[in-house]
Amino acid sequence: RPPPSDVLFATLEKAAAFYRSELMNTARGKDYFKSRGLTGETAATFALGYAPDAWDSVLKLLGGSDAERSRLLQVGLIIERDNRSGHYDRFRDRVMFPIRDARGRTIGFGGRVLDKGEPKYMNSPETELFHKGRELYGLYEARQASRTLSRLLIVEGYMDVVRLHQAGITYAVATLGTATTPEHLARVFRICNEVTFCFDGDRAGRAAAWKALENSLSQVREGRQIRFLFLPEGHDPDTLVGEEGREAFEARIKQAMPLSEYFINHLSAQVDTHSIDGRARLGEMARPLLERIPAGIFRELLAEEVAKTVGLKRDRLTSMLGEGAEKAA
Ligand code: CTP
Ligand code: MN
Ligand code: MN
Ligand code: MN
Ligand code: MN
Repeated sequence: RPPPSDVLFATLEKAAAFYRSELMNTARGKDYFKSRGLTGETAATFALGYAPDAWDSVLKLLGGSDAERSRLLQVGLIIERDNRSGHYDRFRDRVMFPIRDARGRTIGFGGRVLDKGEPKYMNSPETELFHKGRELYGLYEARQASRTLSRLLIVEGYMDVVRLHQAGITYAVATLGTATTPEHLARVFRICNEVTFCFDGDRAGRAAAWKALENSLSQVREGRQIRFLFLPEGHDPDTLVGEEGREAFEARIKQAMPLSEYFINHLSAQVDTHSIDGRARLGEMARPLLERIPAGIFRELLAEEVAKTVGLKRDRLTSMLGEGAEKAA
């Protein structure tokens, strides 16, 4: 008997193949992706699919025995009815994005409604094989496009990754309906030293960017570059690259804001830097964040910049930092 996870991977692979053939063989899913500007080649690269509008298509195809149904349950493809009188398919009438691990094995799915409907995206639940706070959508496909990934662009959504890839920007990855976690970031920096965050040009996107900054501070190292690309209001990478193309979008990536600049700008924007109270607050907000940065030249320079902004002598602020770091150690 193969180890249980091999059987689960096989179940997910069969489901992916089924969704894929449904996409090829019915107009509904294909027309949707066409309307989003995707080519057949892109759909093949990401193994995009379509889950038919039925309560039992995966259940019938892959859930013939108790053992098989129990596997479908374990990988989140079917759901048990409330009264336990049976099961039904989780994904119905949705276009499907298989989520693969770094080795290319399908570990879960994201499914999008075609029309209006809630929720817009539905993801596989946390399972033995699928941990949302760890996985990056598109990483496998990015590696396939370039073995030596020297940089990554972190975006919000499936469509952003796929549309950017189609435009020739093959180094985009997305977190899966969660904020970027410290685990994601540790992973990202094991892969490369150049990371640009590019979230949607809306309130949620800007909040996600600041959260990403907070979680990036402990990852600051000499030789690493962490930057933030802010998009025009109402745009996300998908719409913007569709509108202006690869070159213009890559020019934006090149000009993205360094972490240090975003740090100062964001904090300064929240206080009145002309008043003592405002500057004091800025210093108080900055200090615990500065303490997350490993001691070194970058932290010294950023602390100096904060000190300048709040009007403190630098050695006062850095000595406060020193005390904090010693306490933490
Ligand atoms: N997401 C989710 N559940 C939702 C909404 C969003 O898991 N109900 C996740 C998905 O991974 C989605 C990402 O958050 O791709 C970004 O959400 P959003 O910006 O709303 O969606 P888009 O990717 O822009 O969706 P689309 O372009 O298809 O409308
Ligand atoms: Mn596990
Ligand atoms: Mn969004
Ligand atoms: Mn979006
Ligand atoms: Mn979008």
